[in-house]
Amino acid sequence: MANAFQAIRGMNDILPDNSPRWQTLQQALAEVCAAYGYSEIRLPLVERTELFKRSIGEVTDIIEKEMYTFEDRGGESISLRPEGTAGCVRAAIQHGLLHNQTQRLWYGGPMFRYERPQKGRYRQFHQYGVEAFGLTGPDIDIELLLMSARLWRRLGIKKLRLQINSLGTSESRADYRRLLVEYFRGHMGVLDDDSQRRLETNPLRILDSKNPDMAEVIAAAPSLLDHLDKESDAHFKAVCDGLKAAGQKFSINPRIVRGLDYYSRTVFEWTTDQLGAQDAVCSGGRYDDLVTQLGGKPTPAIGFAMGVERLVALMEMQETVLAPCGPQVYLAHLGDEAAQPALLLAEQLRDALPDLRLVLHAGGGSFKSQMKKADRSGADFALVLGEQEVANGSVQLKPLRNAVEQYEIRQVDVVAELASQLALQPPIQGV
Ligand code: HAM
Repeated sequence: MANAFQAIRGMNDILPDNSPRWQTLQQALAEVCAAYGYSEIRLPLVERTELFKRSIGEVTDIIEKEMYTFEDRGGESISLRPEGTAGCVRAAIQHGLLHNQTQRLWYGGPMFRYERPQKGRYRQFHQYGVEAFGLTGPDIDIELLLMSARLWRRLGIKKLRLQINSLGTSESRADYRRLLVEYFRGHMGVLDDDSQRRLETNPLRILDSKNPDMAEVIAAAPSLLDHLDKESDAHFKAVCDGLKAAGQKFSINPRIVRGLDYYSRTVFEWTTDQLGAQDAVCSGGRYDDLVTQLGGKPTPAIGFAMGVERLVALMEMQETVLAPCGPQVYLAHLGDEAAQPALLLAEQLRDALPDLRLVLHAGGGSFKSQMKKADRSGADFALVLGEQEVANGSVQLKPLRNAVEQYEIRQVDVVAELASQLALQPPIQGV
């Protein structure tokens, strides 16, 4: 084992034990998105480096130190995507999806950031993201937040906290930025190196510093919410009112500034206190200027992305109910004469009961060893086909999870018996 390969640091294998949670999340997400009229878009994992620089912002952590950037063989600088919004906007412009129309899109898959790995923070991680284009809101802002809340309910994920803020327009932010720089200049002695550097480049980011020595100064800093332009202020109030009317709890947190530069107006984060420092499980906001910045016609937009690893960790901790996935039936067979009939029977059962999950034993072995495997598979029933059953067209059905004795039934009756025992729907004939 000493020389065996290991996965790259910060990049995880998702093992079969855990994959039912990933599948449950994906299924719930696809269903909730469909319920709100969102369609899936599939995007490349790599894009031109320039696309990310222009959308996420040159002076952000992602662009300055976290991108996997390299030259391809043609000498072009390309990067593994650190997030999905930039690629989604690029695709929407490129394919004319935004011409005089609205779009509701979702996507998922791996994202890559060269961060320091720790619990809940990885270098290859996965997101599901949702983006709505062409809608000025605030109704769409509210709908997106309610949609994410519905997903948590559907998954049985509890104790998430919704925090929202407004960043105003880029113009109102420019005024506020000047004010903030002035304020922090008056407290230079308290700012750590990182914040002193940010004071010149991206002062709003100082507001979400986690350094406890700066907490007091940050708490007393002027709040962007007090310096919003009129329209952004009205927009924010409408979002808050809409959430209240829908019974969605939230808190306003003026320190949410987000680590990507494309946001304007509404920004939000769903957080948990169950995962330690990496507490955001889903975050996003409005980015009304990004489509134009990337060469498209002015198109308002809003979206969010959720961190799948963090949600899956919560699903594990909270023991949420998972979509069933293990086998229900284990088909054992004894003797050379039974091997092929068993394979044919397995195929017939899968034809007749498309939802049935059946494992056909492979590799021979005694009745006892096959029953051990059947038990370990987690199946509810074993079917046993021996040479005698083959000869008389029957099969033994053995319940594995209760004390009911094994019993013999005719092979022609197996479909009906399994359908009733496992509450499976036989396919509708002729469809
Ligand atoms: P983000 O806040 O950078 O936003 O990432 C969204 C979510 O991805 C986070 O809330 C977190 O759950 C998860 N995440 C981020 N980095 C990591 C990591 N290194 N390891 C594990 N999970 C991570 C965006 O990416 C925006 N594109 C969201 C958006 C969509 N805004 C508008 N539309």
